[in-house]
Amino acid sequence: MTAVSTTGPVLSLRGVSKNFGAVAALTGVDLDVAPRQVVAIVGDNGAGKSTLVKILSGVHRPDAGSIVFGGREVSIPGPADAHALGIATVFQDLALCENLDVVENLFLGRELRRGRLDEVTMELRSWELLRQLSAKIPSVRVPVASLSGGQRQTVAIARSLLGDPAVIILDEPTAALGVAQTAEVLHLIERLRDRGLGVIMISHSMEEVRAVADEVAVLRLGRNNGVFKAAEVSSQDIIAAIVGADALPQRPQRPHRPHRGENRGDE
Ligand SMILES: Nc1ncnc2c1ncn2[C@@H]1O[C@H](COP(=O)(O)OP(=O)(O)O)[C@@H](O)[C@H]1O
Ligand SMILES: [Mg+2]
Repeated sequence: MTAVSTTGPVLSLRGVSKNFGAVAALTGVDLDVAPRQVVAIVGDNGAGKSTLVKILSGVHRPDAGSIVFGGREVSIPGPADAHALGIATVFQDLALCENLDVVENLFLGRELRRGRLDEVTMELRSWELLRQLSAKIPSVRVPVASLSGGQRQTVAIARSLLGDPAVIILDEPTAALGVAQTAEVLHLIERLRDRGLGVIMISHSMEEVRAVADEVAVLRLGRNNGVFKAAEVSSQDIIAAIVGADALPQRPQRPHRPHRGENRGDE
């Protein structure tokens, strides 16, 4: 039985825990991502988001729990294993080479050769990939240093697609971007979903999460603290789950609160 369900999750985590010495970075975390679904992971600083990403990309190994990918339990001992499975990660620093052009960055370390470097095919493939992503990149022969933040993000995402992944993880893809470039990257994320990928995105922006995600998974102090349908949840509810409901300031129950010194008839 090797058939993979098309409706079920492509990636499932169950009870994943990770400790760093005395620090419990993750405790018993569950997560499901389906094909053609964008799952946003949100949480305060230190909530465990990056640790989760690093476990899925083979940087860290979990202390407990299971990872099921494509219907079978897997282990991800290193980055090459994540790549081989079909889990691609675009880290926040993008890891692009500023002085190299777009084609060189896309094929860095896996250059196509026919005797010598097959520049023509690499350039054609680059155009094709960027066209599929509707990327607005003026030329694939300009150094990455001359591109905008949104264009760089696009190049980094395009590079990760060359391995033909089933799941792509984006760590804060819009953190460094202005409004127009953020919109560009959000469109790109929708395009990834349209291609059938399961997308995991880490984000700090509630607006962005509600605009592009299908589901929002909240981590708090290394534990699950709710999974919401993005279309049905308010930003306030997400924030309440992020910080813990009791941490929010209480709203006054009465429309008018008497000022100090005013006569408080009820006290
Ligand atoms: N390599 C590490 N060594 C020790 N502690 C770590 C390491 N990575 C993360 N932590 C700790 O694990 C917790 C979760 O961190 P992290 O996953 O980076 O959270 P987030 O990305 O949500 O801000 C934090 O308390 C952090 O200090
Ligand atoms: Mg982090």
